[in-house]
Amino acid sequence: MERRSLASIFLAFLVVASDHYAAVSAFPAQDPWRKNDPWNWHYFPRNTKVVRVAYWPAYSADQYPASSIDSTLFTHLNYAFANLNASDNTVVPDDAARIAAFSRTVKSRNPSLKTLLSIGGGGADPKPFSAMASKASSRTAFIWSSIALARSNAFDGLDLDWEFPQNQTDMDNLGTLFAEWRFAAAAEAGHSGRPRLLLTAAVYYSGTIRFVGGGTYPTKSINANLDWVGLMAFDYHGSWEPTVTGAHTALYDPKSDVNTAAGVARWMAAGLRPDKGVLGLAMYGHSWILSDPSAKAGIGAPAKSPGPGDATPVFAGIVATVSGDDKATVVYDNVTVTAYAQVGSLWIGFDNEESIRNKVGFLRSKGMRGYFFWTASFDSGNGTLSRAAAAALGH
Ligand SMILES: *[C@@H]1O[C@H](CO)[C@@H](O)[C@H](O)[C@H]1NC(C)=O
Ligand SMILES: *[C@@H]1O[C@H](CO)[C@@H](O)[C@H](O)[C@H]1NC(C)=O
Ligand SMILES: *[C@@H]1O[C@H](CO)[C@@H](O)[C@H](O)[C@H]1NC(C)=O
Ligand SMILES: *[C@@H]1O[C@H](CO)[C@@H](O)[C@H](O)[C@H]1NC(C)=O
Repeated sequence: MERRSLASIFLAFLVVASDHYAAVSAFPAQDPWRKNDPWNWHYFPRNTKVVRVAYWPAYSADQYPASSIDSTLFTHLNYAFANLNASDNTVVPDDAARIAAFSRTVKSRNPSLKTLLSIGGGGADPKPFSAMASKASSRTAFIWSSIALARSNAFDGLDLDWEFPQNQTDMDNLGTLFAEWRFAAAAEAGHSGRPRLLLTAAVYYSGTIRFVGGGTYPTKSINANLDWVGLMAFDYHGSWEPTVTGAHTALYDPKSDVNTAAGVARWMAAGLRPDKGVLGLAMYGHSWILSDPSAKAGIGAPAKSPGPGDATPVFAGIVATVSGDDKATVVYDNVTVTAYAQVGSLWIGFDNEESIRNKVGFLRSKGMRGYFFWTASFDSGNGTLSRAAAAALGH
């Protein structure tokens, strides 16, 4: 039944696809929004609700069961991740039973919660995404298989995490993909009588990619076709800089333009409508072993090596480490709007309640739509950071 209705929509899609291109290219060069001051909160559309999004690391389901997420703290939860099959460009489950159970599990505590199925992620090879986005036939395979997978598992939306496009050709193709995805989602909604699937993407912290890829995101297509994009405003510093501590979520940084305020400014300069932007918040830190544990070490202190393990302790682990040592110190840094902890020779840069509250204040001042956490499962105890963020954002 599901398959049959999708096939008939698919045919309709092919017939009207050419009209659709005309509609997309007719999108006004001057977004009416931008006639007003795009930074001004007063122009925020009145009916736009804020979003409190978080990802669930499905690949660590044994350690972090979905049933343990307090879903009342969020408006949307993203399942991370379904995969893109590079041979036929369809979206396939990482684990069919896990995907099937997710929405029911997390909605049992919060019936108004929406769930999204995220595709790709930092661990996924970006090349198949580039290949898929480059041809109409492979985009179509991706689009309809993603919609079928979301619908058959009771998701309310889809989220694309292609990390990352490599050049402007990739970015232009991404813009086309978003337009076709939106068109298909709207067609499917008309056909099925259900609310349209939400469509979002996780994107680089800045509107123009450097270091890990290239090109400027297709902001006109994003404004027109996606519900929002989540800016991955973290991992600015880490184990790849083993000899110096760093604030990996710096909101501001007098020493570097790799910081959230600069990235958000580049997104807005590229034309992103502020209320299409959702700010990424990290529920984890980056750690180092200090060269001199006896000195009070700040941001930029000399280090001997990255911290233990993968040097990215989760927030719950940081709280446990700090509270387990009488001599541990935690400092809030008002220049970068981050926190750091020193526990013997271990140094961790992370976000605490104060920095999270101030980051939420920042995103509100820019008229952004809300935030997402990577991930819901890394919070301490009773949802310390999730609650701090929700309280700061309001409704
Ligand atoms: C990927 O696609 C190929 C070709 O259709 C198929 O043989 C294979 O089973 C698919 N892999 C998964 C995981 O679905
Ligand atoms: C753009 O990047 C993709 C990989 O993401 C690559 O396959 C393609 O050849 C590049 N195109 C140009 C014009 O450099
Ligand atoms: C940061 O804190 C210091 C010391 O409390 C204060 O002098 C300074 O004005 C603050 N800077 C900002 C940007 O708030
Ligand atoms: C968690 O925090 C909320 C809000 O502060 C409180 O109402 C609730 O009782 C707490 N639950 C537990 C198990 O501590």
